[in-house]
Amino acid sequence: MSSHPKHLLNLVDLPSAYVEALVRDARRVRAEFREKGPSNALKGRTAALFFEKPSLRTRVTFEVAMTQTGGSTVILDPQSISLGKRESVHDAAKSLSRWVDCIVARTFSQGLVEELAHYATVPVINALTDEEHPCQALAFGEMLLERLGKREDGTLHDGLHGTRAAFIGDGNNVANSLAALAGHCGMHFTLACPEGFEQPAGLIEKVEALCRASGGSYRQVRDPREAVRDADVIYTDVWVSMGEEGQAAEKTARFAGYQVNAGLLAAAPADCVVTHCLPAHPGEEITQEVMDSPRYRREDIGREMRNDEL
Ligand code: NVA
Repeated sequence: MSSHPKHLLNLVDLPSAYVEALVRDARRVRAEFREKGPSNALKGRTAALFFEKPSLRTRVTFEVAMTQTGGSTVILDPQSISLGKRESVHDAAKSLSRWVDCIVARTFSQGLVEELAHYATVPVINALTDEEHPCQALAFGEMLLERLGKREDGTLHDGLHGTRAAFIGDGNNVANSLAALAGHCGMHFTLACPEGFEQPAGLIEKVEALCRASGGSYRQVRDPREAVRDADVIYTDVWVSMGEEGQAAEKTARFAGYQVNAGLLAAAPADCVVTHCLPAHPGEEITQEVMDSPRYRREDIGREMRNDEL
């Protein structure tokens, strides 16, 4: 396993074979859990969870996953740790590395999670920054394999190759990690956003290079209808991300035409499904009607779901 990258800081810089293996492994682990229940795979292992921003799904799923695999978590309160102020990132990373087996960090800046990884001698997992949300993209990949990956003859796709995903809204952290997933896995990714809310040029360049190798494609359009015309799945996220509260009025006005609603779905293929990383703001980026419709798919399926509910 020594050839595997040590940290999960973003998706775009990882080897494609590794990203695909992560998605497939997630699917295997879920299937094993469904069949056999909790395991002892991480018995005696501890993960430190550090969240500078609010979290429901990411925090709970990391805690529950550690518990259900025989491990444990330590929650680090950002106020009491005061990373970079009370003590240096260097010292915190070195100390934590002596006691825990993994550091899971949700920070505002991507630089902070990278700095933690630079000094830590245990793996650091990015649990969302202003720029990336790699775990969310991996969960999306797993969900696609689990629930969309059917060929016309009913058998499952080997991978995500050829799946067409349309992201409607902000070229934000979630969109960045999804575009990278698409590049690695040969998916066709389209972002529809208003002018000024595109994804960073450096990321697009890397995603396009990945697409050339994988057979996928990257496209950016203004018109959401054009984006969804041939989509297998429509993805959306809040217009105002955590930390952007000061831009709420401006962004809400600029994204007004980018709502995932019945009108937009009418422009998409009849079997196209919709998903959202959550939390959602119904009435803004998506309507409640769409979230309540049979075309909506939750990513956060858990142990209570039966196969026939997937
Ligand atoms: N773009 C959102 C994702 C929340 C999971 C945010 O950063 O707030």
